[in-house]
Amino acid sequence: MVYYKIRGGRKLYGEVKISGAKNAAASILPGLLLINGICRICNVPQIEDVHLTIEILESLGAKVRWLSSDCIEADCREIGSRTVLPHLGVRMRASHFFIGTLLGRFGEANAPLPGGCVIGMRPIDQHLKGFDAMGADYAVDGEMVRVSVKNGQRLKGAEICFDMVTVGATMNLMLAAALADGVTVLKNAASEPHIVDLAGFLNAMGADVSGAGTDEIIIKGVPSLHGGSYSLIPDQIEAGTFMAAVAAAGGRIRLSGIIPAHLKCISAPLRQMGMEITEGEDSLMVSRPGELSGIDIVTRPYPGFPTDMQPQMGAVACFARGKSTIVETIWEDRLRYTSELRRMGADITVHERTAIFHGVPHLIGASVEALDLRAGAALVIAALAADGVTQISNIGFIERGYHDLTGKLAALGAEISREAEERDTEEDH
Ligand code: EPU
Repeated sequence: MVYYKIRGGRKLYGEVKISGAKNAAASILPGLLLINGICRICNVPQIEDVHLTIEILESLGAKVRWLSSDCIEADCREIGSRTVLPHLGVRMRASHFFIGTLLGRFGEANAPLPGGCVIGMRPIDQHLKGFDAMGADYAVDGEMVRVSVKNGQRLKGAEICFDMVTVGATMNLMLAAALADGVTVLKNAASEPHIVDLAGFLNAMGADVSGAGTDEIIIKGVPSLHGGSYSLIPDQIEAGTFMAAVAAAGGRIRLSGIIPAHLKCISAPLRQMGMEITEGEDSLMVSRPGELSGIDIVTRPYPGFPTDMQPQMGAVACFARGKSTIVETIWEDRLRYTSELRRMGADITVHERTAIFHGVPHLIGASVEALDLRAGAALVIAALAADGVTQISNIGFIERGYHDLTGKLAALGAEISREAEERDTEEDH
């Protein structure tokens, strides 16, 4: 068993370089399949989800190699398969982006259907509704979803209005529409920074996408895309996680390699709590001058407060003076981390999608479990500020989305290590 061991109480000082965005990589790397050429993608984070995405690309026939620690080259000229192998696809929810890209380029895609997961149900009805409007048939065959273009090889441009703001369906339909015959208009589209990044990537390879960043995106299909180079945006949520870490543990750090505009939705509530945040051109100085006060947060699609920062802010709220309220509107099961924080002494009550925090002077180190990626990040933050030692198990979740979290925190002065413990159980044999 591997786990993180954290002795709390050290303030954080120094500089941290933020890696490329996980959720941009999630759609842009599958997007490489649309390109009948060679692409170079830089600022790629070395996280488990990226390694798995590359494994899926290779299993389909792509040739991918790392040029440096954060740059890959992908040759997708010869793609033999139209099927995402179930044992690879089920390990990552974002594997559904391969449906959009295989369908867009080859008119056919088969992939495992993503089921519910620890943060909530993860339906893809809006993705399928979009493919259907573009002239595809789909069928669910056991655990696989099979989608193919009805008459011929190319999807047809269509107007698609999503029933809710969905990041995944917006990106999947952008991917599918890039090579479609005609114009696709996506209404009630999501506007997250990684959606603008996906549009930037597609356009750099010859696509015609406009309106990304607003709620209406227009994709004029082109016959083919060419190779080229692109660099991913920095990870908004990784940056926010370090900001929350300083809020909980104290100190003063500089985040570098970031886009400050993407962080306004996170800086605003942290400032309201008492944090000092100063924007540079591609950096932020973050410090905690004194005690924090309570905060009320409701998660919303961008530019609202991101659900992917909600658990980390919950960890900060444990220490803030008075009462804080957090309402999670996107994922129905994303407050489960509060039970682990309670094991460390936090005062939190949860009613349906609302968590109420009453600040306590100290949390106490304990053995706790990362229940999902951001829940794990919340525990790291709480542990950095807690008295004594915390052991966090199930860290595979955390490493799916954060590049070298322990190394980066240790460089800021945290006492954190990744430990391995021999276990001799039936399961291991
Ligand atoms: N939804 C539907 N039907 C659909 C699609 C979505 O009902 O066809 C619902 C979902 O159940 C949810 C809401 O719409 O209640 C929003 O879902 P969305 O499609 O926006 O989420 P996603 O694309 O599956 C991405 C991120 C998540 C992040 C959400 C919201 C990736 C790989 N994942 O998920 O990231 O929470 O957008 O911003 O991009 C994370 O990084 O920790 C993470 C979970």
